[in-house]
Amino acid sequence: MTTDELEQLLAEQPVTRLHRLAQGRVPRHFRLGKRRLIEALLQHSGDKRAGLESDLQVLIEESLKTPPPPHRKARPEPAPRLRQGAAAPTGQAEGEPAESPVDLTAFLEGIGVPEPKPFIPDAWQEDALTSLATTDVIVSVPTGSGKTYVAIEATRRAIEADRTVIYTSPLKALSNTKFTEFSRLFGSDRVGILTGDRQDNPQAALLIMTTEILRNLLYDAAGGEIDVRLDTLGLVIMDESQYIADPERGVVWEETIIFCPAQAKLLLLSASIGNPQDIADWLTSIRPTPCHLIRHHRRSVPLRAGYLHPTGKLAPLFRSVGIPHGGGTPLHPESKRLFAQYEDETLRPNR
Ligand SMILES: Nc1ncnc2c1ncn2[C@@H]1O[C@H](COP(=O)(O)OP(=O)(O)OP(=O)(O)O)[C@@H](O)[C@H]1O
Ligand SMILES: [Mg+2]
Repeated sequence: MTTDELEQLLAEQPVTRLHRLAQGRVPRHFRLGKRRLIEALLQHSGDKRAGLESDLQVLIEESLKTPPPPHRKARPEPAPRLRQGAAAPTGQAEGEPAESPVDLTAFLEGIGVPEPKPFIPDAWQEDALTSLATTDVIVSVPTGSGKTYVAIEATRRAIEADRTVIYTSPLKALSNTKFTEFSRLFGSDRVGILTGDRQDNPQAALLIMTTEILRNLLYDAAGGEIDVRLDTLGLVIMDESQYIADPERGVVWEETIIFCPAQAKLLLLSASIGNPQDIADWLTSIRPTPCHLIRHHRRSVPLRAGYLHPTGKLAPLFRSVGIPHGGGTPLHPESKRLFAQYEDETLRPNR
């Protein structure tokens, strides 16, 4: 079989079969998309291609011989009892808990716009703002907690004190969104943007830019080519600062922090830094003032996990409304049924 023929045959296989084929052959194969999985398989099987071909033949023959088990057959409609809730599922495996799983209505309950309430900053938000007056701050709190409020209020205070502010984000799209949002808040004459695509108002009190642009700006400053005034810089906000861990781009965050002017305070915001204390210790070791870390795990917006079948059918992923902690958590029977249906459909021969 030529490489083209083998590639063609692989491309015709359902993803689930490619994953089985990749077991042990391709590291972290479960993260790869179909096209990349095929490339990785071909690459990793370089000198043992015969083995790949014969394994693939075995899997194809296996699926031709073995019809899907009866309880995994696709059903045109979801089980009505699950829509109404509170009944035991079809095909419930032995050993599953006897209590009724949560129904879809309970799972979706509470989603919507909450009642308006007066805005009262949380204690951690106050703490961040007070600390920024004297030192760098890392805020590592769950998503939807209100990190933007800290960024906006810190900016307002810096501008009032005649200092300029740079806000960086890892994405041009996020920079554009923040430019619109902050222009509305502070007035368009006080806000500028610098990305690879856009340069507006570079002398503004608040400049939005991608982190790469700030790093380049700081490099230029070191070489004496300053486009933007850095001597009045009072605050640098790095949103989504977990990018410091990115294998390719992380170095840009590191260099930006290292070259950040000493008189400016750094505010790093993230929902997902795994080791914020290490980053805070590092900042403390290289910056003029000790870095203050603010960290908590309380979720203002609870997470729920669901399974969405390609046909649009939705089911809770677990038997409970929230996401259970710990291993061995039983899945919701409707989710299992939908997933089995998906497997049957994708494993069906000659798709
Ligand atoms: N103290 C507060 N009390 C009530 N609501 C708040 C408070 N602070 C912020 N919020 C609201 O919480 C919502 C989410 O805030 P924000 O977008 O700042 O979250 P975030 O922490 O930046 O999340 P992400 O990690 O997704 O970027 C916003 O609607 C904001 O108005
Ligand atoms: Mg945010």
